[in-house]
Amino acid sequence: MTIHYRVSPGARLQGELRVPGDKSISHRAVLLGALADGTTHVSGFLEGEDTRATAAAMRQMGVTIEADGQGALRIVGAGIDGLKAPEASLDMGNSGTGMRLLAGVLAGQTFRSRLTGDESLSSRPMGRIATPLSTMGGQIAMASGDTPPLEFSANPGLRGLRYEMPVASAQVKSCLLLAGLYARGETSVYEPAPCRDHTERMLNGFGYDVRRDGDWTRLTGGSRLRAQDVEVPADISSAAFFLVAASITPGADLLLEHLGINATRDGVIHILRAMGADIEFSNERNVSGEPVADVRVRGTQLRGIDVPQHLVANAIDEFPALFVAAAAAAGTTVVSGAAELRVKESDRIAAMAVGLTTLGASVEETADGMVITGRPAGARVFGGGEVDSFGDHRIAMALTMAGAVSGGAVVVRNCNNVNTSFPGFVQAAATAGLSISAYEDDQS
Ligand code: S3P
Repeated sequence: MTIHYRVSPGARLQGELRVPGDKSISHRAVLLGALADGTTHVSGFLEGEDTRATAAAMRQMGVTIEADGQGALRIVGAGIDGLKAPEASLDMGNSGTGMRLLAGVLAGQTFRSRLTGDESLSSRPMGRIATPLSTMGGQIAMASGDTPPLEFSANPGLRGLRYEMPVASAQVKSCLLLAGLYARGETSVYEPAPCRDHTERMLNGFGYDVRRDGDWTRLTGGSRLRAQDVEVPADISSAAFFLVAASITPGADLLLEHLGINATRDGVIHILRAMGADIEFSNERNVSGEPVADVRVRGTQLRGIDVPQHLVANAIDEFPALFVAAAAAAGTTVVSGAAELRVKESDRIAAMAVGLTTLGASVEETADGMVITGRPAGARVFGGGEVDSFGDHRIAMALTMAGAVSGGAVVVRNCNNVNTSFPGFVQAAATAGLSISAYEDDQS
């Protein structure tokens, strides 16, 4: 059955909300916990389909992972050299992060393995990891067009690599650092723009020496990881939908609790503030090596901006939501340098252009971004209508938020994939004050 959402006009966006655990940090906690010596306890783990796929893959390679289904994991680490050959393919579902990070680990194993994914993941580019992994000595076969499935031959030994990434990608950086754990000598990765650093922080937390040197990150293979307890903060990428909805809803006042505010992930806050948003941090603290705060956001009139280039990689997952904010802002917003949006779970530039146009916004798609002419009209920014998520969780949630300031009902079709990153989204949105309901039929 296919799940669809219906949002009726009249959102309030008041009170407090804690969104689920950070997806990026949850993947990494499972991977490093599985490779460490000793037992790792994780709390706040994202119980989404993507991160569960990563846990399932590690179990298939012999790692004991007990989960209470409420975000607590007990991972009995196999040690860096303790994974066992999986008997079947490892299915990463919809998760590009799961596939690319695990690829770094698998490239260094002395057994064969195979990574598969769903239809969306099976069309995403993997040459960006396979090429540098091959230079390290990994033996990886891909489908035509450099897409999954990925097949890894038993590897006799990797060599460290000095690699300048052509695009700023935390997934590529993390993949190579994880492969670097198995490599002889040093692996160093250059990032052309700052991208998320959770892998480096968590490796340090697990006792591994990772160094940052300007735009280079380096480590030397051959050491071991020590089990750690990891508390995962709430996901700023999931919170982004509510940051936007509250920012554009007159009278809104919402507190998002225990939010990860890592400086390589907070582009959405910088961009919204530059647009005039009223966002305040309190109770700033450090949780398992990651900065966390409670974040209060109030409704205000946003204004359009040219989004600065240096914030694009940092806010890459938040553009679907930010496009909605721009449509409700006074003046024009220009996003450029964001061609990576076209190779995410969907082509997010095209998907948002179609959705926002259907809802009556004025947007112009460009090769690497979007130009949005805002229509600041209080509670009537969008006209209502029926839109499609293109099977992409973030498109589904972004278009749902348009319903907060719509004159008519907004129906978002094809929302099953929201479970990849935000289980309980409908309940959370209702708690925050959106008039939302979900229904099912057999038509996608
Ligand atoms: C992620 C990195 C980003 C992001 C993805 C999660 C990660 O991808 O879009 O959702 O956890 O490393 P890229 O680094 O490939 O842009």
